[in-house]
Amino acid sequence: MPANILIIGATGVIGTPITAQVVSAKSSFGRIAILTSKNTVSSKAEVIKSLKEKGVEVLLGDLEVEADVKKAYENIDTVVSCVGRGAIEKQIQLIKWASETPNVKHFFPSEYGTDIEHNPSSVNEKPHQLKLKVRAYAKTIPKDKLHLTYLVTGPYSDLYMGKTGKEEIGTFDVKAKRAVLLGDGNGPVSFTAMADVGKLIVACIQQPSASEDKILIVNSFTATPNEILAEFEKQTNAKWEVSYTSLEKLKEVEKQAWEAGAPYATHATLRRIWTEGGTLYSKPRDNGLVGEPPMESLADQVRQVIAAQTRS
Ligand SMILES: NC(=O)c1ccc[n+]([C@@H]2O[C@H](COP(=O)([O-])OP(=O)(O)OC[C@H]3O[C@@H](n4cnc5c(N)ncnc54)[C@H](OP(=O)(O)O)[C@@H]3O)[C@@H](O)[C@H]2O)c1
Repeated sequence: MPANILIIGATGVIGTPITAQVVSAKSSFGRIAILTSKNTVSSKAEVIKSLKEKGVEVLLGDLEVEADVKKAYENIDTVVSCVGRGAIEKQIQLIKWASETPNVKHFFPSEYGTDIEHNPSSVNEKPHQLKLKVRAYAKTIPKDKLHLTYLVTGPYSDLYMGKTGKEEIGTFDVKAKRAVLLGDGNGPVSFTAMADVGKLIVACIQQPSASEDKILIVNSFTATPNEILAEFEKQTNAKWEVSYTSLEKLKEVEKQAWEAGAPYATHATLRRIWTEGGTLYSKPRDNGLVGEPPMESLADQVRQVIAAQTRS
């Protein structure tokens, strides 16, 4: 039976490429629907129009209202949640309602990031708290009521290799040919390109028995900041101006950011975790479990970042 899929948070940062990949594989699926708000339908009218033109059903509702969500769950077997950080905890209700809806069999909570159970100190990391709460709740749901799959992707290479508002937490500025690298630049980081997150979700839905009840640790490639810089220099055919934010300095910036309530505090913590080796896993990546879909390379990602920054 082809999967009938509901995507929640479909127009967000990662919801957009996930939805695009699901739509591009639509011949292998049944229905593709999104649950979104009235506000999004008016503020992102062009995006919604384009999704409808591609055959996506647009269901309106409030993800905090049980009747709206249960209506959206009608005849759906797979729910992919891509909600943003402001709605992570609200997934507890979304999972509860899914477990009460017999036709919903498989739920992907919004993770798509850092391994939140990486080591004993992970439990204390501020950005992980709500995702940990969701996992703890989900453990109470019997598997015969609902299967859950978490996709641990590490940082999105597209964003890591972009410009940041706060250069000290790392940046790659193509026009200025300037980079700020984290740590000593030699620490490997495991990345997933945003389009590849979508491809991996598609692969998980197509092979439910390989992905159900699992935390899948996936990636596109692993690279050090120095290797990323070398690829930018090669593709721009220029020597870049480089500085480094040591791990010690990054920790200071992180502490100050939280004390000041700065908007980049979460990013500073995540970048510190990645720089400390928090994306290096004790087991091989799980891409093979879902058929090893083709992934982007470091060179592909750098090419795309150069194109995007040159256009802007
Ligand atoms: N690995 C990485 O580098 C990385 C980077 C960024 C994010 N992430 C992770 O990816 C997941 C999705 O994050 P995102 O940045 O893609 O999300 P986002 O763009 O901020 O939001 C995604 C969607 O969530 C829905 N939403 C509804 N109520 C919300 C609320 N109160 N607060 C926030 N969102 C709400 C909205 O959907 P509608 O518009 O349809 O209503 C929104 O478009 C999160 O788990 C996040 O931690 C990982």
